[in-house]
Amino acid sequence: MGALDIAARRLSVTVTGEGRAAGAWAAPRRGPRRGPRTGVAELGRPRSHAVRHWVVPPNLEGDIELVAISEDQFSERMPRLKAGYAEHLRATGMSAERAAEKSEEVHARLLPDGQPRHQDRLLTVLVGGVPGGLLWLGPLDDEPGVWWVWQIEVDETLRGRGVGRAAMKEAAEVVRAGGGHSLGLDVFGDNLAARRLYDSLGFRTTKLQMRLAF
Ligand SMILES: CC(C)(COP(=O)(O)OP(=O)(O)OC[C@H]1O[C@@H](n2cnc3c(N)ncnc32)[C@H](O)[C@@H]1OP(=O)(O)O)[C@@H](O)C(=O)NCCC(=O)NCCS
Repeated sequence: MGALDIAARRLSVTVTGEGRAAGAWAAPRRGPRRGPRTGVAELGRPRSHAVRHWVVPPNLEGDIELVAISEDQFSERMPRLKAGYAEHLRATGMSAERAAEKSEEVHARLLPDGQPRHQDRLLTVLVGGVPGGLLWLGPLDDEPGVWWVWQIEVDETLRGRGVGRAAMKEAAEVVRAGGGHSLGLDVFGDNLAARRLYDSLGFRTTKLQMRLAF
């Protein structure tokens, strides 16, 4: 293994050693664990060394702002949220038909008359002033002071760059400003990214649902 050089959001790693091993390593099959990335391989000739470059995108945590959702954003995002929720239900073993029905039922409860409940905050996450996600939260009816995250979504191209974390930190401020003292949420077991995010923010698991398929 040779030099590791991190400069100005560009990551280059040089591997020296056996030609084939270095060449195989540098083939741009995988980049960093997640987030937008570009991998470019340079192979030495003969292949006695190899260099792989990645463009490392900037963290956007400092560039976010929450604003009330516009009608356009609402109509654009809602069908996708419903479909995404149904997809997670499917992953639990539910039939496609039932998952779609259940997603409709859940959203109908959260959106009486097709609009958010007056006590909820349905917010657009602006990233550098441009819509890049959604955060939806509100107080529980039966537990005073407890708020719930009904949904958080970061646009796919912006994921892995700190937007979700920043939005969740802002969510805590929204709750405090609304007189709440704690924030809860549901997360599907297969949603590793979301679970890691919540774990890293200090959320603790209060309930688990399990299922065995035959
Ligand atoms: C979950 C979601 C909101 C996270 O937003 P994000 O902007 O990508 O997250 P961040 O970049 O702020 O990452 C924060 C932490 O989340 C975890 N995380 C994010 N993406 C991850 C991934 N692909 N794999 C594993 N952990 C991940 C990490 O702990 C990360 O912290 P780290 O970068 O210090 O390791 C985003 O993936 C998303 O919109 N998913 C689809 C909708 C969804 O599932 N919403 C949650 C419903 S409960």
